[in-house]
Amino acid sequence: MNNIQHSSASNEAYTPTNVVEAARATMGAIDLDPFSCAKANEVVQASAYFSEFALDREWFGRVFCNPPGGTLDRTTLEPGSGYSSAAVAWAYLLSEYLSGRVEQAVFVCFSLNTFQNSQQVPGMRFAPYMFPFCVPSSRLKFWSEARPIGTKNQPAQPNALIYLGDNVDAFVEHFSPLGQVRV
Ligand SMILES: C[S@@+](CC[C@H](N)C(=O)[O-])C[C@H]1O[C@@H](n2cnc3c(N)ncnc32)[C@H](O)[C@@H]1O
Repeated sequence: MNNIQHSSASNEAYTPTNVVEAARATMGAIDLDPFSCAKANEVVQASAYFSEFALDREWFGRVFCNPPGGTLDRTTLEPGSGYSSAAVAWAYLLSEYLSGRVEQAVFVCFSLNTFQNSQQVPGMRFAPYMFPFCVPSSRLKFWSEARPIGTKNQPAQPNALIYLGDNVDAFVEHFSPLGQVRV
């Protein structure tokens, strides 16, 4: 498994500042953003980020994860029709968290579809909704180089923000202003 890459516009859907700041306040800092680029990291300010081959590497520390969209071939996990890329990324994050390499994480579900299709990835033991999560009361305004922060946009999907880690009280405190939190 190596390369979540695809041509969908959702590939470059960067996280709004208020969500990143809530994640940073919850975890203390962001050590790794496994799916990113220089432009997105101007906001995320992760100490390290990957721009390719995220699923072939060890993840570590306090992770902020907003994976690319699109789908992957079920056998090769290369771009194709099959599993949701986000669902595969969730399964990978979960395995890195359960390994102990990842201490805490905030995972961005671009769409609530991830609640459903994460169950289709073999070996995925716990669905995102089994962890503390926030459903923002307004759809998140993702941004990109083509649609900078502040550009008027009409977000297409309702979202969820998942927390893995021990700082649950901090997650509730910092994400409740965005929408209702379930722990
Ligand atoms: C949805 S954007 C999120 C960017 C940033 N993490 C954020 O939240 O603002 C996904 C990013 O992952 C990058 N990407 C695509 N395929 C990747 C891969 N296989 N490994 C690592 N990064 C990848 C894309 O170029 C894009 O910058």
